[in-house]
Amino acid sequence: MTRVFQNVIVIGAGTMGHGIAQVCAMTGRSATLVDIDPQRLADALAKVGANLEKGVARGKVLPETRDRTLGLLGTNTDLAAACADADLVVEAVPENMDLKETILRTVDSAAPATAVIASNTSSMSITALGAFTSRPERVIGLHFFNPVHIMALLEIVTGELTDHEVTSQCRAFAEDIGKTPIVVRDAPGFATSRLGIAVAMEAIRMVQEGVASAQDIDTAMELGYRFPMGPLKLTDLVGLDVRLAITEHLHRELGTDTFRPPQLLKRLVRAGKLGKKSGQGFYDWES
Ligand SMILES: NC(=O)c1ccc[n+]([C@@H]2O[C@H](COP(=O)([O-])OP(=O)(O)OC[C@H]3O[C@@H](n4cnc5c(N)ncnc54)[C@H](O)[C@@H]3O)[C@@H](O)[C@H]2O)c1
Repeated sequence: MTRVFQNVIVIGAGTMGHGIAQVCAMTGRSATLVDIDPQRLADALAKVGANLEKGVARGKVLPETRDRTLGLLGTNTDLAAACADADLVVEAVPENMDLKETILRTVDSAAPATAVIASNTSSMSITALGAFTSRPERVIGLHFFNPVHIMALLEIVTGELTDHEVTSQCRAFAEDIGKTPIVVRDAPGFATSRLGIAVAMEAIRMVQEGVASAQDIDTAMELGYRFPMGPLKLTDLVGLDVRLAITEHLHRELGTDTFRPPQLLKRLVRAGKLGKKSGQGFYDWES
């Protein structure tokens, strides 16, 4: 059977990269992880192995699927060599424009002209990333969510020059790896971050104004609107510093007051209250 994108290269074997490689290999694709750090490659394979074991223990993954998946995963520290036969290249290196430019230029010169080049960026413009290649019509955003093997959404982001045929292929790919795709035009924050951050910033302003406690605002959204988790608890889990950086970016790009960083958020970040990772945020995680 021919699959959309049989040979997938995932660059960056971190939080996102290992999960992207896993879901590709689980659906019969050859998936090669590329990283500059051999230890990250070894850790990524171990994490995929552990995810699959957990799946088998829970009866969600067949032992044959686990074995076949592990057999389809490969690793490489040589980016250009890894891309030589690629159908799809997904970059998942840290959110740094200069780094992504270097990676995309190498991929563009090494991968076949037919290959699609995707970025897992959470905030950068796909049109801007496409301009680093000679094939912007084959560059697209594939925004996966963490943990990749569990989260059902795949946000497909189309740049100004992305070809419709490439978008269709990516939709088919998303469905084949068990994700529900949405297609979003290249706009700051795409669909997910823009709406998620808007709700979170309003919730923070409500705490600031003393409208209700963080706990009660979260309960309002969890029980009244069926959010799986309230916006303030989610902000504690993601990290207040991370969400401050995103809202500053959206405020710069979109200019609306919705994204103006609330004083309370800035004060908490300055005080080192970053949420769960620091023990304090809108909630006390130490007790
Ligand atoms: N973590 C999340 O929840 C999340 C969710 C959606 C999107 N993203 C996006 O995904 C991308 C990756 O994020 P992450 O959290 O997986 O990062 P991470 O730091 O966990 O992993 C990045 C990996 O890239 C590797 N790397 C760095 N430079 C490299 C190079 N020159 N060549 C090859 N590998 C290199 C690092 O060694 C590391 O293993 C970012 O663009 C981020 O914005 C992250």
